[in-house]
Amino acid sequence: MTDKPTILVSRKLPDAVESRLSRDYLALLNPQDRQYTTAELLDKSAAADVLLICHTEHLNAEVIGRLPGRVRAIVNFSVGVDHVDLAAAAARGLVVTNTPDVLTDATAEIAMLCMLGAARRASEGERLIRSGTWNTWSPAFMVGTQVSGKRLGIVGMGRVGQVTARRARGFDMQVHYYNRNRLLPELEKGAIFHATLDDLLPRCDFLSLHCPATPQTRNLLDAHRIGQLPEGAIVVNTARGAIVDETALLEALRGGRLAAAGLDVYCDEPHINPAFAALDNTFLLPHIGSATRETRDAMGFRALDNLDAILAGAAPPDRVV
Ligand code: 8YV
Repeated sequence: MTDKPTILVSRKLPDAVESRLSRDYLALLNPQDRQYTTAELLDKSAAADVLLICHTEHLNAEVIGRLPGRVRAIVNFSVGVDHVDLAAAAARGLVVTNTPDVLTDATAEIAMLCMLGAARRASEGERLIRSGTWNTWSPAFMVGTQVSGKRLGIVGMGRVGQVTARRARGFDMQVHYYNRNRLLPELEKGAIFHATLDDLLPRCDFLSLHCPATPQTRNLLDAHRIGQLPEGAIVVNTARGAIVDETALLEALRGGRLAAAGLDVYCDEPHINPAFAALDNTFLLPHIGSATRETRDAMGFRALDNLDAILAGAAPPDRVV
């Protein structure tokens, strides 16, 4: 018998993180990294004091309502918490935490990759090489859009937005942003604040989304707002698929209203709309914003710091609810 608290871990975590977990707690690990069905998750939760989950586990109000009474907290291995119904968790008295800060650099890297990949037609180029069908060169061959010196609009100037702005400045981009609140000058670093999206969008050669998915930001980039971007703009999304009306985005990409899109996130992952892959002017990644060894370790340890605090009866550093 052990009196250690029991932690249900929904996915395979980095080895060093699992070692610390197993040292300090009775960890119910998932070494095969199989995605549990809701029924399995609920079943396995019966023995758990805390659930340590990823964004692949969708805890809506109904699922939260069915969690065994023993469960005290939901510790997320993610910064985004849109997969958890926070109001339902609060109503049940569950503590919910996330992992901010530690995935900022990795996600900003992927935003730059998406921007460059979409602008410079990286997918098309790769495909030509890998399929062995590259057989020509001419001044008109694979001509894309230059990134350097262009105007970048950032929606959501939080941690990831600010680092993306810093990286973009390395490409001499002029940074514009929309955020609920204007940043202090030392954080703004010369970026131009726009109090409304109506004001921001017409000024963006590139638009990069960095806000959380909430009921307020759902379909934020819809057909009307895409229409406010300059002709030939490029859209980058490394935040959440729900922020974009995918039907409107696909239509704008097909019709050439947008030159290209670089996407790391989608509405229904991993079952993405196949129309994205059928287009040449898309650069597509499978939600790998935080997928570096360094960041995944740091996310795990940050989650464990929250877990330790909760079980010690202290305030977890990253409490969301
Ligand atoms: C993570 C993310 O990899 O943390 C987030 O919100 O979107 C990702 O980059 C994922 O959520 C892990 O659960």
